[in-house]
Amino acid sequence: MMNIVIETIMKRKSVRLYEPTPIPKDIINTIIKAGNQAPSTGDEKEVEEGGKKRKITDYQPWRFVVVEDPEFKQKLVQTIEPIRSNFYEGMKRTMPEMYEQGMKLYEVMEEPKDLIFYSAPVILYVIGPRRNSIGCAMVCENIMIAAVSLGLGSCYVGFGSMVKGDADVVQTLELKDGERIYGPIVLGYPKVDPSENQVSTLAELRPKKKEPMIKWI
Ligand SMILES: Cc1cc2nc3c(=O)[nH]c(=O)nc-3n(C[C@H](O)[C@H](O)[C@H](O)COP(=O)(O)O)c2cc1C
Repeated sequence: MMNIVIETIMKRKSVRLYEPTPIPKDIINTIIKAGNQAPSTGDEKEVEEGGKKRKITDYQPWRFVVVEDPEFKQKLVQTIEPIRSNFYEGMKRTMPEMYEQGMKLYEVMEEPKDLIFYSAPVILYVIGPRRNSIGCAMVCENIMIAAVSLGLGSCYVGFGSMVKGDADVVQTLELKDGERIYGPIVLGYPKVDPSENQVSTLAELRPKKKEPMIKWI
């Protein structure tokens, strides 16, 4: 059984080679709206009104930071790069095939090579309460499906959240105690058709998705 939604979900793949073409603002806003549409449990939040503090139940407790600025992207890369390269060193031993694949991707990348955000034009941070991980993960998936539906590629880049080492980055992202970064998700127009090019998706060595394990009761 197929329809446009199922087809879009099936089409999503992590894309790791992007055109530098910027994404129009209205498209980014539409994607964020789709993210914001995710289910949300109420999060207890303290607010101050007229000098008095009170607790409210906050829905959609997440927020979004859209990074397009080349200088800030550079700062992010500098902050995360030691962690990434350390991880890749370990991968040589623990996941040699995956490491080889990463190096293949590195070869086909244009300068300046970026194995963290893949030189995507947009890095979209989803930031929300640490205790709201389920809702925030749903926001991320909505974003990635919406991106496919609008002809964009995406990749959930866990490395992109490892920014605590740089106080300036933390300040610019306005990260507060109790908050956590979900994603970030990189977005952009794929350089090659993700359904065909294996290097851009790092899919060459990845086994096909397993069949779902289902128990019917
Ligand atoms: C929590 C999480 C963190 C991830 N971090 C990264 C990352 O840092 N870099 C990357 O290239 N892909 C990252 N991915 C993407 C996975 O590698 C990818 O989803 C997986 O290999 C399956 O491939 P597919 O997305 O094409 O189906 C991450 C995915 C998840 C769910």
